[in-house]
Amino acid sequence: MALHMYNVRRIRGVIQNLKAVKRTFGTGPDPEKQVKQSAGSRVFSGIQPTGIPHLGNYLGAIKSWVTLQEQYSCVLYSIVDLHSITLPQDPAALRQNILDMTASLLACGIDPERSILFQQSQVSEHTELGWILGCFTSMPRLRHLPQWKMKSGKKNEGSVGLFTYPVLQSADILLYKSTHVPVGEDQVQHLELAQDTARIFNYKYGDFFPVPKPLLSETRKIKSLRDPTAKMSKSDPQKIASVNITDTPDDIILKFRKAMTDFTSEVTFDPDGRPGVSNMVAIHAAVSGMTVDEVVHQSEGLDTAQYKQVVADAVIQTFSPIREEVERLRADPGYLKEVLSQGAEKARELAIPVYRDVQRLIGFC
Ligand code: AMP
Ligand code: TRP
Repeated sequence: MALHMYNVRRIRGVIQNLKAVKRTFGTGPDPEKQVKQSAGSRVFSGIQPTGIPHLGNYLGAIKSWVTLQEQYSCVLYSIVDLHSITLPQDPAALRQNILDMTASLLACGIDPERSILFQQSQVSEHTELGWILGCFTSMPRLRHLPQWKMKSGKKNEGSVGLFTYPVLQSADILLYKSTHVPVGEDQVQHLELAQDTARIFNYKYGDFFPVPKPLLSETRKIKSLRDPTAKMSKSDPQKIASVNITDTPDDIILKFRKAMTDFTSEVTFDPDGRPGVSNMVAIHAAVSGMTVDEVVHQSEGLDTAQYKQVVADAVIQTFSPIREEVERLRADPGYLKEVLSQGAEKARELAIPVYRDVQRLIGFC
């Protein structure tokens, strides 16, 4: 009985302690919990080598990749060139785009000492595991996935590679027994396939793959500066619709000046009613680290023309050091190739034992 009372008091004490921590630090993650959560966890994500990223890529993906390096001890980021050839590519442009994406990720803060940054095709186990996992995946399961529906045209005439693209993505993730995968909303269905594939494999061969969890980006989709109902996208033919991380201050000011807003002059946040101004508020909040309410409050009294200049300045402040670093790194392709080759070596060290176990489990000698 005494022991029971002692335990009750102890648990109450722990709860009070936690409440005090919460009062002091707010509702953010408890640092101790985070350490525990990261022990044994592996983060994996991939990005296609599309050249220099834009503001949407930066805020929607790369910025959180940088933060994750501080929270997890094992982090892998892959430039997924095998995925990019599911659509036609010019070899010289692809070669340059791989280096440009490497320079961009490094300049944005991906640190090759803290995360494994590598080029997917340099670790051949990705394709090998992709083949094996393809044998556990049904055709109907793939037919409804977004990449295929979006990119195979009206008559679904895409290549076999485009069709099996999500299987390769599952292989990317499972090859490292990854536990957490930062993705945008558009990739959730692909991650669900990876989860299903892990479950199917585990059901057949015993508990082997962790079922990976998505880490969804908190940033809402950044919209085109010319059409705030569409997302900011690389494929937009209007160059002034998106801001690249290497844009000069003059480019940035011009693009924001020409950004589409509306006829109301104050700054408010109402994504449905006022998508243009709200997109700017979202951008301003994301680059400055303020909340949307703080941004709106701070901008009281400004008209939209003045506000465009404020947002442009905030973006310039974030991107100027990044632009300078990208330029420095692009001038040194030898260094970029060395980073990728060392990254591939570290990735292979993690991939090979997992792949060997898979081979053994399925019955390859
Ligand atoms: P993509 O090159 O379009 O495949 O995008 C690469 C990464 O950037 C993915 O994680 C996307 O979710 C993210 N991303 C792309 N465009 C935007 C956008 N307009 N707003 C927020 N995130 C984006
Ligand atoms: N399919 C993702 C995209 O188009 C890129 C990607 C490839 C990826 N492999 C991955 C993302 C593994 C997360 C995990 O954006």
